Amino acid sequence: MGPIARFLSVILSTSFTHVYAAFSSSGSTVFVNDIAYFVPPDVVGTLPSKIQDFTSRFHGSLGPVPITVITISKPGFQVSDLSALAANFSASDDVFQDGFLEALYVQYTGHGNPSAPQICSQNAAKAVIASSTQKPIPSGPYFVTSAGTLHRAYRLYSDFAGAFTETAISNSEGVFSVLPAGIVGQSPAVAVPSRLYFTKTVDKPLAGVRLGIKDIYDIAGLKTSNGNRAWYGLYPPANKTAVAVQKLIDAGAIVVGKMKTSQFANGETATADWVDYHEPFNPRGDGYQDTSSSSSGPGAGEGSYPWLDITLGSDTGGSIRGPSEVQGLYGNRPSHGLVELTGVMPLAPELDTSGLLTRDPVLWTAAAKALYGDNITVTSKYPSQILTVEFPESADDIADGLILDFLANLTDFLQANVTAFNFTTAWAAANPSAADINVILNTTYPLLISKEQIKLVRDPFYADYAAAHNGRRPFIDPTPLIRWSYGDNSSATIEEAVANKTQFMDWFNSEVLAPDAATCSSSLLLYVGSDASTVYRNVYWDSPGVPFGFSSGRISVFSEAPDFVVPIGQAPYNSTVTQHVEYLPVTVDMMVAKGCDGMLFSLIEALLAAGIIQVAKTGYSGIDGGEVLLKRSLEFEQ
Ligand SMILES: *[C@@H]1O[C@H](CO)[C@@H](O)[C@H](O)[C@H]1NC(C)=O
Ligand SMILES: *[C@@H]1O[C@H](CO)[C@@H](O)[C@H](O)[C@H]1NC(C)=O
Ligand SMILES: *[C@@H]1O[C@H](CO)[C@@H](O)[C@H](O)[C@H]1NC(C)=O
Ligand SMILES: *[C@@H]1O[C@H](CO)[C@@H](O)[C@H](O)[C@H]1NC(C)=O
Ligand SMILES: *[C@@H]1O[C@H](CO)[C@@H](O)[C@H](O)[C@H]1NC(C)=O
Ligand SMILES: *[C@@H]1O[C@H](CO)[C@@H](O)[C@H](O)[C@H]1NC(C)=O
Ligand SMILES: *[C@@H]1O[C@H](CO)[C@@H](O)[C@H](O)[C@H]1NC(C)=O
Ligand SMILES: *[C@@H]1O[C@H](CO)[C@@H](O)[C@H](O)[C@H]1NC(C)=O
Ligand SMILES: *[C@@H]1O[C@H](CO)[C@@H](O)[C@H](O)[C@H]1NC(C)=O
Ligand SMILES: *[C@@H]1O[C@H](CO)[C@@H](O)[C@H](O)[C@H]1NC(C)=O
Repeated sequence: MGPIARFLSVILSTSFTHVYAAFSSSGSTVFVNDIAYFVPPDVVGTLPSKIQDFTSRFHGSLGPVPITVITISKPGFQVSDLSALAANFSASDDVFQDGFLEALYVQYTGHGNPSAPQICSQNAAKAVIASSTQKPIPSGPYFVTSAGTLHRAYRLYSDFAGAFTETAISNSEGVFSVLPAGIVGQSPAVAVPSRLYFTKTVDKPLAGVRLGIKDIYDIAGLKTSNGNRAWYGLYPPANKTAVAVQKLIDAGAIVVGKMKTSQFANGETATADWVDYHEPFNPRGDGYQDTSSSSSGPGAGEGSYPWLDITLGSDTGGSIRGPSEVQGLYGNRPSHGLVELTGVMPLAPELDTSGLLTRDPVLWTAAAKALYGDNITVTSKYPSQILTVEFPESADDIADGLILDFLANLTDFLQANVTAFNFTTAWAAANPSAADINVILNTTYPLLISKEQIKLVRDPFYADYAAAHNGRRPFIDPTPLIRWSYGDNSSATIEEAVANKTQFMDWFNSEVLAPDAATCSSSLLLYVGSDASTVYRNVYWDSPGVPFGFSSGRISVFSEAPDFVVPIGQAPYNSTVTQHVEYLPVTVDMMVAKGCDGMLFSLIEALLAAGIIQVAKTGYSGIDGGEVLLKRSLEFEQ
């Protein structure tokens, strides 16, 4: 049975004993001053019986109706305090609004039994209730029913960027179900609880942090799609939550839904490849640039929604970094092996990693500590040697200028030396008897992802689907299909690919980014993440191909070293869509030695504190914010 079973009541009619009905409440959607809220069925508290009839005093409705709950420990609460409190609530929480001052429930935890007038003078709220209580619920906005039951308030937002596959809510026992609520307009609703219910503590460093999950992670109670509709239809809801997701939940994060992935986490572009699901919308610039993939939903959601704090993606060949780069976000591909992948769909276990996309480096570090658990040590002694890969040599355009300014600022900050690093020549010099690096690593990535995913995902899926559908084969998007065909037809083995990868990794991790006793990593390696180049989503690209080749983005894939995207600015372009100048993000990827993730998080926080980088904004621009262009014409939606 699903989570709803807890609310299931069986009503037996005495006069028609053969007739019965199963009734369950999945909550309700209400409006307070034109803002939509979801009221879940879970009861978080009950008003004392002597005041349960109070609802008739202000609405005569069956409810649920809005109410503000506060706790005081001393008598003498005044109306002026109430408005100050409401201002505080509004400043720190997007769910609270003055409409919740319709009614006030004051939980008094002090000595004695204060009378109502001592607590509040006249008419701040239509109903004022005083009560002493043993177990106060957190202050904030709630809904109360005519039965006196108190329910949390969830604000409903529109997923106008199409970033989610399914939005979700968990009940008081932590069991997830699909959000049974909608919103005006064409997009699904996302429900977020008031931030006021949560207080960050040492045990719950992510208390109340709103989290979106790429839909290749299992969440108990929800189906996983892996970006494939047949998969979604075939398998039941997961019965266990992926370890990485559970770690974030255990630290207090609130999962608000599952987010879009390109199919089976393979790289897809918008126009041709996203057949089963539509690619989310990149909020930056004209709003019609590709989101990159495969963590497309997590990237688009982080770039679009101020109410979404952080998202969990995965990176095998660039699936966190790509969406972070083109949407101007912080995103980390961790050192391979440091974040557990149980409960996550594999692409190639030798290469798969689980990491975060966010706008705020401080939250990023806090969430990473929860995600990596014992596998991260945050250290604050930094390398003084910087290697740059394929960096611009001069500031020929605005993007190149920003990249060089950032390098200069970082060099100053670290008192470091900078060396341009060329993989082709460095590899050849260090490994004279080996083949060219671009030959050794040319087919390693496509070989591993195809052969592994065929074995771990495709073949069991095909067999299950055929068994359930009289021998039929499920629909697969063109991109995974062509990659799997490559795996089917290649005579090279997984062992050969792993041997090539290992040869590169052993060299890189000892000669290029080596461990260092003082600074964790001998050097810092930088390459250009994004330079405001356009990738229009309405362009018909060539048919998808096999991802051959070695490039900067593959360094971390083969070496297992961490690779973090850092947004540093934005540059203009003339949009073919708007016929107007728009702006796109400029980002740099920062790498350190394998296992030094904690040092890199610390360095990026230090760069933020020094004013060299900034917290990214949502909307049109990651630097200046502003409404997403599409959103400006969707004012009727919240
Ligand atoms: C409002 O917040 C400020 C700063 O957090 C705090 O000092 C003040 O006491 C709060 N006021 C009320 C009425 O809670
Ligand atoms: C949980 O799901 C897995 C995979 O579908 C299945 O093998 C297992 O039997 C299920 N366990 C329970 C307790 O339902
Ligand atoms: C830490 O790394 C080890 C070795 O790779 C892994 O088994 C373990 O699951 C990781 N811990 C977490 C919290 O992911
Ligand atoms: C940087 O380069 C200078 C000049 O080549 C050298 O003296 C210095 O030791 C170098 N510093 C570091 C940290 O490598
Ligand atoms: C690296 O060296 C190779 C071989 O000399 C050269 O072809 C290539 O252009 C160099 N790359 C860069 C970015 O300078
Ligand atoms: C990589 O492999 C593809 C497919 O076999 C081939 O077309 C291409 O020339 C190769 N590139 C290198 C550098 O070996
Ligand atoms: C491994 O490297 C050799 C060159 O040493 C190359 O010919 C081969 O194609 C590579 N295979 C894979 C799967 O990476
Ligand atoms: C490659 O494998 C696919 C099966 O995935 C098969 O249909 C196709 O004919 C093969 N192509 C070649 C060129 O061998
Ligand atoms: C946009 O186009 C105008 C007119 O061709 C040109 O002068 C300007 O440099 C272009 N701006 C950018 C950012 O490319
Ligand atoms: C970064 O570099 C630019 C250009 O040199 C400079 O204007 C700016 O002040 C620097 N920022 C910081 C925080 O040092």
